[in-house]
Amino acid sequence: MSAPKPSTSVGKLNTGASIPLVGLGTYLSEDETGYKAVLHAIKVGYRHIDCAALYKNEDFVGRAIRDSGVPREELFVTTKVWNTQHREPAKALEESLSRLGLDYVDLFLMHWPQALRTERIIDGNMITVPKREDGKPDVDTEWNYIKTWHLMQDLPASGKTKAVGVSNFSVKQLEKLLADPGSKVVPACNQVEVHPLLPQIPLYDFCKKKNIMLAAYSPLGSQKAPLLDDPVILEITAKHKADPAQIIIGWDVKRGYVALPKSVTPSRIESNLQIVNLTDSELEKINEIHKKGEKRVVDPEWFDFEED
Ligand code: A2P
Repeated sequence: MSAPKPSTSVGKLNTGASIPLVGLGTYLSEDETGYKAVLHAIKVGYRHIDCAALYKNEDFVGRAIRDSGVPREELFVTTKVWNTQHREPAKALEESLSRLGLDYVDLFLMHWPQALRTERIIDGNMITVPKREDGKPDVDTEWNYIKTWHLMQDLPASGKTKAVGVSNFSVKQLEKLLADPGSKVVPACNQVEVHPLLPQIPLYDFCKKKNIMLAAYSPLGSQKAPLLDDPVILEITAKHKADPAQIIIGWDVKRGYVALPKSVTPSRIESNLQIVNLTDSELEKINEIHKKGEKRVVDPEWFDFEED
């Protein structure tokens, strides 16, 4: 048994840059609570913050980063281009930087492999899911994520992002992207839902082979997966005198990729960084959990995970 301690584990992106393996997720962190969460996280040792244009939180995430007093170069900041801006990722990046109040981000991700048309946006707010008359998302069928990638791969040259990557991509979609003759850059990262009830084994293996860093959103299964009460997790938790979340985040780090637990609760923000070093047999036991039935918790009605 090893005592939990703040994680300083870092991984390497295919650009050569370091990336802290535990970062703070901020989806649904709002306004003042969200600002305080980011500020607290940086104070207790987080050096990696994940946000997105869609989360509408870049303004307070950036404010907390600026107010933290920690030099910008010691922090790793990720944001994401929203689906309505696939045709103009350079502009989307500029807008994100302006909301963040930062000169650059460390990683800029394509949030979903789905481009949306903008013609039905009436209030000028691009950060939305425009719908067709039949209520379906207004998918841009004349565009695709490979074209988006070809625009995104040039962005690091501007210095406004250090690296580019994708999110919510399947193995098939990554294969298509990599096989395209116009693709000159391998995504640095693929951020997807990963937790013991959705271990993403084929994607994990594929990303490892292609040197694409996997990043886990909803690593605790959010509020919707019964992971924190799982008997296997609880048994290992008791052995380490830890907290179930520390065991689950420890599982991600032991597998060698980024985990992005979201919390606005100061004590949880703190304990989620104090992960446990699991043994190989504990890792194996957690690897078995999904066999009683996989569970995806993030499944937006406007997106089809089966599509390629
Ligand atoms: P809160 O933000 O109120 O602390 P995920 O990252 O898998 O999406 O999970 C986020 C959810 O899990 C949030 O509702 C968050 O609540 C809660 N959460 C975060 N850390 C812990 C923890 N250590 N123990 C229990 N629940 C947690």
